[in-house]
Amino acid sequence: MMKVLTVLGARPQFIKAAAVSRVLRRFHQEVIVHTGQHYDENMSAVFFQELNIPLPDYNLGVGSGSHGRQTGRMLAEVEEIIVKEQPDWVLVYGDTNSTVAGALAAVKLHVPVLHVESGLRSFNRRMPEEINRVVTDSISTILACPTATAVRNLSEEGFTNLFSNGDLANIGAAIPSVTPERPLVVNTGDVMYDAVLYNLEIARRRQLPPEIHFGDDYILATVHRAENTDVPENLEGVFRGLASMGRKVILPLHPRTRKKAAGFRLERLLESPSLHAIEPVGYLEMLLLMDNASLIITDSGGVQKEAFILGKPCITLRDETEWLETVEAGWNVLAGLGGRKLTMYHDFLPPEGPRPAPYGDGRAGQRIAALLV
Ligand code: UD1
Ligand code: UDP
Repeated sequence: MMKVLTVLGARPQFIKAAAVSRVLRRFHQEVIVHTGQHYDENMSAVFFQELNIPLPDYNLGVGSGSHGRQTGRMLAEVEEIIVKEQPDWVLVYGDTNSTVAGALAAVKLHVPVLHVESGLRSFNRRMPEEINRVVTDSISTILACPTATAVRNLSEEGFTNLFSNGDLANIGAAIPSVTPERPLVVNTGDVMYDAVLYNLEIARRRQLPPEIHFGDDYILATVHRAENTDVPENLEGVFRGLASMGRKVILPLHPRTRKKAAGFRLERLLESPSLHAIEPVGYLEMLLLMDNASLIITDSGGVQKEAFILGKPCITLRDETEWLETVEAGWNVLAGLGGRKLTMYHDFLPPEGPRPAPYGDGRAGQRIAALLV
C-alpha cells in the first residue's frame, strides 16, 4: 500500500479524480489536496457531491489570479503539505496551473510524480495548458497517457521507456526499471472514458434543465479557453457564430466567459432568441445534455472527447486539438478560434459506420492504481 497525495483544483480534474480515486482507494491510502483554483459551488462542490469524491483533506483556497501568482501560491502551500504528509507518490491530472504546481512541489522534495493525461500536445506554446503539460511531463516519473497519440508525442520528445500496450501484466514487469531519470510512459487509456462509462446510465435517470425537453433538436455549446474568451473579437465571433446556427443552443457558461462577456460589453449578444446561456451544470447534467444534443460546439478538451464517446458530431472552436483521433475519425472538425470557419460546418455530418475506440477499455483507473504499487 502506498500513500498517495492527489493535487487537484479545476473542474475537469474532479471528474478525472472521481474515476481514479474509486479504484485507487481499494489499494492505497489517498490524501486529497484541493488548491482552490475553482471555488464556485457549481465549479467545484457539486462534483464532489454528485461523484462521491471523498472531501479534500486540505483546501488551500488559492482562488483566481495571474498565472505566476496563482501557481506560486499553490507551489508554496503544496510544498508544506508534502513535507508534513510524506507521501510515496504525488498524483496530478491534466494541464492546469494546479497540475504543474503539484508536480513541481513534489519533485523538488524528491517525491515521484504520476501524471494522468500525459503526452498531449497542441504544439502551440501560446496556450497556458501546453506549457503546463510540457513542464509536468518533463518532471514526472510515471506518465500515464490516455491515447497512442500521446505515447507517440512523448517518444518524439525523446522518452524511451514506452509501454504502448497497457496490458496490466506488462505494466507490472516494467515497474522495477523505473527511476525519475528513466521515467515510464504507459498507455493506460483515458480516465474520462472510464468516467463516462460509469456515469452515463446514472445521468440518464435525471431531468433535463427547464430550457429543453427530451426529443428537442438543440446544440450543446461550451466556451472557456483564454484564446477565445480574452480576445474581444474572438468572443464576439463565438457568440455571433452560435446565434447564426439557426438552431436552439444551450450554453452552460464558464464563469470566466461570463465575466469577459460583461467586461467587453458583449452580454447583449447572449440575448439572441436561439441562445440559452445557463449557469455551469454538474457532470451528470452535462452528460445528459450532451447525450440528448444533436450537435456539440466547444473549445473544451474534455467535451470534444465526450462528444466522440457519446457519438455526437463536434465542432471545435480552435485551430488545433490534442484529441486528433476525433478529427481523424471524421467526428470532429476545427472551426478556428472565434468560430471564424463555423459557417463552413453548418451542415456538418459525421461518417456512417462504427467509430474507432482510441480511449482504452474503461479500466484506465485500474491501471493507474496498479502502476503505483
Ligand atoms: C482552467 C485551466 C484550463 C481548464 C479549465 C477548466 C489553467 C491555466 N487553466 O481555466 O486549462 O481547461 O480550468 O475549466 O489552469 N472563476 C470563477 N469561479 C471559479 C473559477 C474561476 O469566477 O470557481 C473565474 C475567475 O474570474 C477566474 C477565471 O474564471 O479569474 C479563470 O479561472 P482559472 O482557474 O484561472 O482558469 P480557467 O479559465 O478556469
Ligand atoms: N462540464 C461540466 N459542466 C459544465 C461544463 C463542462 O460538468 O457546465 C464537464 C465536461 O463534461 C467535462 C469537463 O467538465 O467532463 C470539461 O471541463 P472543462 O471544459 O472545464 O475543461 P477542459 O476539459 O477543457 O480542460
